[in-house]
Amino acid sequence: QKGGYEHYMRKEIHEQPTALRQTLGSRVDVNAGTASLDVDFPKGYLESLEEIQLLAMGTSYYAGQYAATLFESLAGVRATPVMASEYTYTGGRDPWRTLSVAVTQSGETADTLGALREAGAAGARTLGVTNTLGSSVTREADDALFIRAGPEIGVAATKTFASQVSTLALLAIAIGRERGELSAAEARSHLEDLTGLPGAIQQVLDEEARIRETAHEYADSDAFFFVGREYGHPVALEGALKLKEISYDHAEGFAAGELKHGPLALVTDQTPVLAVLTEGSRPQETLNNVAEVQARGAPTIGVTSDDVAASSLTETFDVPDAGIFEPLVANVYFQLFAYHVANAKGRSIDKPRNLAKSVTVE
Ligand code: F6R
Repeated sequence: QKGGYEHYMRKEIHEQPTALRQTLGSRVDVNAGTASLDVDFPKGYLESLEEIQLLAMGTSYYAGQYAATLFESLAGVRATPVMASEYTYTGGRDPWRTLSVAVTQSGETADTLGALREAGAAGARTLGVTNTLGSSVTREADDALFIRAGPEIGVAATKTFASQVSTLALLAIAIGRERGELSAAEARSHLEDLTGLPGAIQQVLDEEARIRETAHEYADSDAFFFVGREYGHPVALEGALKLKEISYDHAEGFAAGELKHGPLALVTDQTPVLAVLTEGSRPQETLNNVAEVQARGAPTIGVTSDDVAASSLTETFDVPDAGIFEPLVANVYFQLFAYHVANAKGRSIDKPRNLAKSVTVE
């Protein structure tokens, strides 16, 4: 069942290239610069759209945060990620021009379903983005969009994060084209980056031995901090969530710029800082923040891409070219890092203490 892997989590991390091929598969026509998504919005709906709300929890929330920036920059629509448990539909917006998107792997998360119902009751159009055919979200939302990642058994979400972001990226591209916000050439370039993801992620997976060694070296640290900007910010938050849930270590993610507004007080030579320094994460500005933690003696582990000069870091890991999706590729290093820290400590990786795969109570 685990296909020779010791844990489902590691198997599912390694399944990401296949999962993404399924996610993107028949939906992308790179040459034409189009993405088709088997969702029929009413005529004129996308042109008149004023706001997209991304309602989700946990890893799906971070996918929603990544997607919100994609919707704003590729589709020109104001987009906000909302922690579903905190959602209330406030007035001052035209419900017809609001698309409320529930992002949920299981399709059963009570907080997310609650927010979706509230949005629907206020008159917003609702869309469920899920991995699970026939789940509650598919019955309750006006439309459903499947991420097609295949079953995920490990409690910690891994391959579904990449498939969620990619599915939402296709939606952002489709909306951007429909609204005339994105030229065919721009769409083509993003679609090329997306279709290159399975290969790019495979290259990261091929580096597993080195990230494992680094994970073992730092496994006994006091705490771990993850930082990033722009698309690197949700990935930093997701990296910290993964590490805390399976290793039980203290891990936190920050916007890199946030460090000197408080968290820097936590930084010592016993707190490694993992930074996203790829395209799509404003690497030069983030490097300035990394220099601040280096000055406090923190070991620094950076995920970089080609043109980022990060030679002063303690360790660097490269990702292949993937444009604004490079942070999504960087995330795979963070998944492997979390896995190997937890494995070195003999944790119950597929079923961490106190956690359930699908949280059906509010
Ligand atoms: C983290 C994790 C959880 C889920 C969250 C939402 O690894 O698995 O944070 O992401 O409970 O679950 P879904 O996506 O099923 O709504």
